Parts: sequence; structure tokens; C-alpha cells
Amino acid sequence: MTTEQLPDEHWNAFYTEHEQIWSGKPNAAFVDEVSGLTPGRALDLGCGEGADAIWLAERGWTVTAVDISTVALGRAAGHAKAAGVDDRIDWQQHELGKSFPEGEFDLVSAQFLHSKTELAREEILRSAAAAVARGGVLLIEGHLGFPPGEPNPHPEMHFPEPDEVIESLALPEGEWDTLVSRAHDRAQVLRDGVPINRRDSTVKLRRR
Ligand SMILES: C[S@@+](CC[C@H](N)C(=O)[O-])C[C@H]1O[C@@H](n2cnc3c(N)ncnc32)[C@H](O)[C@@H]1O
Repeated sequence: MTTEQLPDEHWNAFYTEHEQIWSGKPNAAFVDEVSGLTPGRALDLGCGEGADAIWLAERGWTVTAVDISTVALGRAAGHAKAAGVDDRIDWQQHELGKSFPEGEFDLVSAQFLHSKTELAREEILRSAAAAVARGGVLLIEGHLGFPPGEPNPHPEMHFPEPDEVIESLALPEGEWDTLVSRAHDRAQVLRDGVPINRRDSTVKLRRR
């Protein structure tokens, strides 16, 4: 896998390497932050193998779930069918930054939307904010670094602190409330069974 690949080639190759990449469980911080919300229309940006989208659909949300990788989307759609919620999820392929799903949503979620290839992350997150309906929530979870002990092959990659994420959204004054802005630790078990600690950031905002 090289960074000379186009972003969709990079991510399709990434997903093709293993039958399953992620745990199949929804992200823990995502579940914590979304559990108290009233189900409505949700948009999941960079949905991967679909665990968060399926978790939402199982709780009554109508979900639009987007990824650049057709391999990931195909897998996610299969999991949704097995879970009996495929009629509640619209899977859409977009290279975010170049195209963005239509509509407005009560929840827009971006969970670990990072890439070792080209990704207009700040621009995409501004589009994400614009897609939040009045009274809706924008939830952004990000890493604050590579896994500990791993040499950093991409020193140019920037992992913004929560304040930086909020600042880069350039939100209109008086329109949004910050509900959560924090850095936190998260226990993770690597594919080979080794437990590690990750440092992540959570930003949760509500549009007035
Ligand atoms: C680190 S993974 C996170 C996946 C999932 N949200 C999760 O938490 O398990 C990043 C995801 O973003 C997707 N992605 C990367 N760049 C993208 C882009 N420009 N447009 C849409 N999806 C993208 C990747 O294919 C991958 O599924």
C-alpha cells in the first residue's frame, strides 16, 4: 500500500487485506454520546464496515452511511442485512471533499475520519456541520496520535486537539452550543491480541 495510490484505491486495498478490519462493535465513545439522543435522521461519515450505522438503525434511526471504499460498503450492507436493518440504511459511496450526501440530519457523526492518503478533513467537517438540522448534533471523534510504540510513518499527519477541531469548523457565532470537548484515553486490543492505550478526542456540538 503506498500513498501514491488514489484515495479510493488505498482504502479498497486496506479493506481487502483482511476479511474483517474493525471489531464489528460500535465505537464506545459514539455509543456514550448518542445513547441519550432521540432517534431521527443520521449521517455517518466514513462508516467503514458499518457497525455505528447498524447500531443506530437498530435503535430507530434512519441512516445515511458514507464511505469512499466500495469494499467496506459492500461488507457493511451485508452486516445490515444480517441484522435485519438494511431498509433503514442508505449506503452511499462518496469521496468526501469531492462530493457530499444531500439532506439535513439530526445527527452527523464522523468517527475517526483519518486517512494516510489525501483527505480534506477540515473542509469535510465544515460540510458536516452545514448538514446538521436545527436542534441536531454534530459528533466528531478523532485520534490524537498513532498507536503507542508504532513508528510514525506519516509525520505530516496532524491529529487536532478538540479546541482546534472546533476552531477549524468556523461556525457562525451564536448558532452552536459545545456539549463536549475533551481528550480521553481508550483501551484497545490490537489484531494480535496486544492491549494498548489510545488517546482520542471527542467534540459534540448542538445547533440551536
Ligand atoms: C479509520 S477508518 C474509521 C472507520 C469507522 N468510522 C470506524 O470508526 O470504525 C476511516 C474510514 O474513512 C473512510 N474514508 C477515508 N477517506 C474518505 C473520504 N475522502 N471519503 C469518504 N470516506 C473516507 C475510509 O474508507 C475508512 O472506512
